[in-house]
Amino acid sequence: MRSVHPALKTLSLLAPLTLGLTLGAARAGGGAAPPATPTPAAPTTNPAAAVQPARPAASNVSLRALADARGLLLGAAVNQTLFDPDEPEYARTLNRHFNAVVAENAMKWAGLHNNREAFAFGFADAIVNTAVKNGQTVRGHTLVWHDSLPPWVYTIQTREELLRAMQDHVTGVVTHFRDRVRIWDVVNEAVSDAPGHPLRPSPFLNLIGPDFIDEAFRAAHAADPGAKLYYNDYNTDGLNGKSDAVYELVRGMLARGVPIHGVGFQAHLNTDFDVKGAQVQANLQRFRDLGLDVQLTEVDVQLRPARPELGELARQAAVYRDLLRACLNVRCAGFVTWGVTDFNSWRAGGKPLIFDDVYDPKPAFAALAQELAR
Ligand code: XIL
Repeated sequence: MRSVHPALKTLSLLAPLTLGLTLGAARAGGGAAPPATPTPAAPTTNPAAAVQPARPAASNVSLRALADARGLLLGAAVNQTLFDPDEPEYARTLNRHFNAVVAENAMKWAGLHNNREAFAFGFADAIVNTAVKNGQTVRGHTLVWHDSLPPWVYTIQTREELLRAMQDHVTGVVTHFRDRVRIWDVVNEAVSDAPGHPLRPSPFLNLIGPDFIDEAFRAAHAADPGAKLYYNDYNTDGLNGKSDAVYELVRGMLARGVPIHGVGFQAHLNTDFDVKGAQVQANLQRFRDLGLDVQLTEVDVQLRPARPELGELARQAAVYRDLLRACLNVRCAGFVTWGVTDFNSWRAGGKPLIFDDVYDPKPAFAALAQELAR
């Protein structure tokens, strides 16, 4: 039967879980209420999952209970599947295993502010209110990013106008969610991958100049002085030239008195990634040593398609384990997977998450549970 993932059966990873960890405190879950406002159609509905009747959890373990016990935010990025009545397992899995939630796209500029004259908070509110109802912390993602911008932003021609538009956007969003969202990715991916890792060309850099970053953080802080404000980026997980550039960026911000409280490391990886070799822990530690919080904010680990899947699943589990260990060793504030199931992932082909297409936990799930329980 399908109650245990075939790969799990073959891996010794499962044994300590089934033997050692039966967490009575695990939340029963409970479906999410449909949002008050209409939500976009749900093209990501997984027919295979939709036909599944409610099944007993494939594991007695609740990652959420383990994370709660360690004071770690353990999150997942969510999309419209959360409100799909044909796929209740999504909300059930989310509520059982995660104490934190990120909107995968709904809180981006184009998601909230496509029309310059008015914010559209309906879908994001539905996600946030559902999370709050389920006792989950929300990470706000993301206020200022070169991607996911509505066309009107590109029509702006002067520094003053774009600066004001950016400040208005940040102020409007942070103010709206002030009582429910206390962690924000304020600026996302501002450092480029080009040699020397200068700031990435964007309307903000091009028109406002490099101080758009400081100004975005100042606006967010003014709108909610209690919120934790993060800089977030990818390919910065280990010690490398790009993470050096982010380190210098945030060190400069701190020196200038800019209100920044944390750095997010996306950790979009594949099974070739060597967490120890890349010195992820040493990298996270140097940011902690600046007095900043750190989180792994968008973790997914793609399988390499040409290789046998069973070995890849074990390798994937090891990358998840090593990442979480590095995170816990520096007392990181959070660990967020970029999606719930492989089917819902933005990189579904790489099967990068800890639940498979039909919500069964993968070896990576067991690895996280073991690491949290250690
Ligand atoms: C991705 C979403 O997962 C996709 O659905 C969307 O089409 C594009 O954005 N870095 C980020 C995230 O900070 O916001 C991105 O999310 C993935 C890369």
